[in-house]
Amino acid sequence: MHTSAPYQAQPFNLSSLRGISNQTLEMHFKLYEGYVKETNRLTEKLAEFLKDGQVDQEETPAYSELTRRLGFEYNGMVLHEYYFGNLINNGGGDAAHDSVFYQAAQLSFGSYETWKADFVGIGKMRGVGWVICYKNPANDYLSNHWITLHEVGNVAGFTPVLVMDVWEHAFLLDYKPVERPKYIDAFFANISWNAVEERVFSA
Ligand SMILES: [Fe+2]
Repeated sequence: MHTSAPYQAQPFNLSSLRGISNQTLEMHFKLYEGYVKETNRLTEKLAEFLKDGQVDQEETPAYSELTRRLGFEYNGMVLHEYYFGNLINNGGGDAAHDSVFYQAAQLSFGSYETWKADFVGIGKMRGVGWVICYKNPANDYLSNHWITLHEVGNVAGFTPVLVMDVWEHAFLLDYKPVERPKYIDAFFANISWNAVEERVFSA
């Protein structure tokens, strides 16, 4: 257990994306920094409970509540790092046909287009959360998942290779709530396929 702030907000050199304004990005970076701060704060608080080497009876309710919130804050921090990390200026388009990702999508879904239809379809689902394309390191298969909030639905041991935030804060300054499909198009117009490829390769 760390006793001092173990995480620092990473800088992301992102601006002038297609269809996602700088104003949205600035606001989103601030939200991300909030998750880093809360992760550190919770970690510190929990360390305080454990200082005497045990969780005392009267501490249990507070200790339990803070521990439950760990998953929310940690995943909120980490998923934003994956999300910003798979966006880039002048990126976008579709995965290159000779990429490992493209081939893995074909292997797993029959075709890249089917993989994409699934990923986009999940992105249009109602609710607050994320779409994550994971690679299973055990068999190299890709699968797409809906994550409620930040923490419900993540698959243990799988590697996130493409992460899309579909909380409304990700697009509300640029699009209406019902225009989520336009935001998803904008997301695809800015994907760093190099970053995705690196994740697939190293998983
Ligand atoms: Fe977000």
